[in-house]
Amino acid sequence: MNEYLKHNDWCIIEEGFNPDNQRSSESIFSLGNGHIGQRANFEEKYSGDSLQGNYIAGIYYPDKTKVGWWKNGYPEYFAKVLNAPNWIGINIFVGKKELDLSKVKVENFRRVLNMKEGYLERSFTAEFDNENIIEVTSKRFISITENELGCIKYEIKSINVNDKITIVPYIDADVINEDSNYQEKFWEELSIESKPGEAYITAKTKKLDFHVCTSMKFNIEKNKTEINDDIKEEQKKKYIAQSIELDLKPDDIITVYKYAAITNSENHNKETLMMAAHNVLQKSYEKGFEKLFAEHANAWKNKWTDSDIVIEGDVAAQQAIRFNIFQLYQTYTGDDEKLNIGPKGFTGEKYGGSTYWDTEAYCLPFYLRTSDKKVARNLLLYRYRHLPKAIENAEKLGFTNGAALYPMVTMNGEECHNEWEITFEEIHRNGAIAYAIYNYTRYTGDESYLEDYGLEVLIAISRFWAQRFNFSQEKNKYVMLGVTGPNEYENNVNNNWYTSTIALWCLDYTLKSITKIQTLTPEKYKKLKGKISFNELKEVGIWTNILDKAYLPENEELGIFLQQDGYMDKELINAIDLDPKERPINQKWSWDRILRSCFIKQADVLQGIYLFEENYDLDTLKRNFDFYEPKTVHESSLSPCIHNILAAKLGYKEKAYDLYLRTARLDIDDYNDEVNEGLHITSMAGTYLSIVEGFGGMRLKNEELHFNPFIPEKWKLYSFIVKYRENHIKIEVTKEKIVVMNQNGETAKVFIRGVEYNIKERESIEFYCN
Ligand code: BGC
Repeated sequence: MNEYLKHNDWCIIEEGFNPDNQRSSESIFSLGNGHIGQRANFEEKYSGDSLQGNYIAGIYYPDKTKVGWWKNGYPEYFAKVLNAPNWIGINIFVGKKELDLSKVKVENFRRVLNMKEGYLERSFTAEFDNENIIEVTSKRFISITENELGCIKYEIKSINVNDKITIVPYIDADVINEDSNYQEKFWEELSIESKPGEAYITAKTKKLDFHVCTSMKFNIEKNKTEINDDIKEEQKKKYIAQSIELDLKPDDIITVYKYAAITNSENHNKETLMMAAHNVLQKSYEKGFEKLFAEHANAWKNKWTDSDIVIEGDVAAQQAIRFNIFQLYQTYTGDDEKLNIGPKGFTGEKYGGSTYWDTEAYCLPFYLRTSDKKVARNLLLYRYRHLPKAIENAEKLGFTNGAALYPMVTMNGEECHNEWEITFEEIHRNGAIAYAIYNYTRYTGDESYLEDYGLEVLIAISRFWAQRFNFSQEKNKYVMLGVTGPNEYENNVNNNWYTSTIALWCLDYTLKSITKIQTLTPEKYKKLKGKISFNELKEVGIWTNILDKAYLPENEELGIFLQQDGYMDKELINAIDLDPKERPINQKWSWDRILRSCFIKQADVLQGIYLFEENYDLDTLKRNFDFYEPKTVHESSLSPCIHNILAAKLGYKEKAYDLYLRTARLDIDDYNDEVNEGLHITSMAGTYLSIVEGFGGMRLKNEELHFNPFIPEKWKLYSFIVKYRENHIKIEVTKEKIVVMNQNGETAKVFIRGVEYNIKERESIEFYCN
């Protein structure tokens, strides 16, 4: 853990400059708008340790796979979100000395991420070795009202300098990915155009030929008066800078406004990219920084009105939930069905920026509850469009008859993950994709997705499961061999309870959906059957047989589901008995030791109980939770939130609270010693669920909303809003009472701790706790 950030309701604050924290802060203070995003790199030169990261949604590179030992079926490439041309750069020279925070004496350093209004601010005093001192303040935002725009206001005050100052705004397309497999650079220059105060670099990516135009326009004021001095230009390959030299006297203030427009060929014709960038720049420049910022801040205000979670009495918890919601909205807005949510969003290179099961298992429930239903529908359509590739992917592994295996990691539907134990074996992802269809349909009441797209996906997934189970003569049951469950600290196991459970659920749900669609829209069903050559009698027969005779491992003596065959042979110890110096074990232990240990990376059996909780009574949950939670090291960010929700259900209030902090402050306090690589964006949706489903006890039962809230000891009040169908329901919980408001929509039927209420629009009810 590394707790160096100040607690504050609306801001993340760092005081004092510590280069050792620079990479972590670059991740934590990241900005984005769902289309472009970046780490909190400095505008001016920084020669210390840093991960330069500036990303554009949907722009990636298929980097040729690099593995020690090739296995048939491995993908040709790993897709990488590209570090895109740098648009934030503004180099500063005072006299002949370059401003570089690793070379000057830095004082009063303060960095603030303001989540209420969506901007990053940094201020510091720099003293050069000739005793010249300047004060710098920079403010930047990535506009959420103008998708292709970023803006910077960079201010320098002379404390004692009597010398020249040179200001050098630039664009640099000569950037690299640290994770490049073969140390290749991925960008090629197409053109550089400029006029004074304005410049454009159009570059293309190797292989996939994405084109991107990165442009800047700037103006400079001295003591609030516009400067029109000569601009000198410097051009090199993939780089353009324009500089202005000015006299600087004590108390002078220089202000630089830099606007950057980033347009790409996914959204524009290649031929018109520069013109599109020019239009954004021109419009923005005319409006000016303050007006653009006011519009942006106002849009954030509106987002918060709909989605804020308020916690009183616990600043650390309050700050953390806002941070999680803020980062989710910075990453994905749901307005483009080509896009998805990478586990690190726009905050780092790890995981390649690609799509994982995280989207369906964690993010979709968040967007369902907080956004218009078309956002979740777009996430589903993304997978529907990838169905042909998922079928191809399964064919490569030897499956037939239209069976689909969705990839573990993907950009365009093709698998690009290349560790055999995950690529070929961590197949539970198929289940999450099916479950998302169920989740969307029951939550929104919109059956049309299931009719038009969903059933086709479900049948293809069920065809896969039907071939993946095999019949064991010895057990006289269907078994599933050689899989990796969500717990990646175990590979190639037999009969992982979670994987088999979700596979069986898929078969059952597909059968039910067939019956439903047959009745609702027989014509559509008939058409689908023809399209996919569905032999209903035969295939349904096989699925039903598997459902009747499937093997799920259990330990009857303990009354628990077994994570997989043989789990009880391990040395059973608890994580609390590990020496803290040995954690996280994935950074301290050999892989072989991890695999043989009983330690569980993330919710596995408990993930299944969470998804299908209506099938298990409280005692069963308790026995499994009491057995598995102590053995879980939560070294995946996706884990603590699920444990939190189950702990809350069991009434383990303190445990639930600890797990909440762990999920919510995972990145801010760097629990797993890895925030330098980027933020855990997808698990942030789990943090939201920890409050809404954990403490709030929200459940959907028979399409009706139930809440069973409790309030953690330390909190005075918390409130959240969920959108359900036409209603916006606000729940406010204190120690004394629960207030439920129907903020919007027809009369809402809501159950509080089992008691039914019908709440008219804009009315509220109060439920007293004792
Ligand atoms: C987890 C996976 C997850 C991936 C991306 C891994 O550490 O074990 O479940 O999909 O991270 O978040």
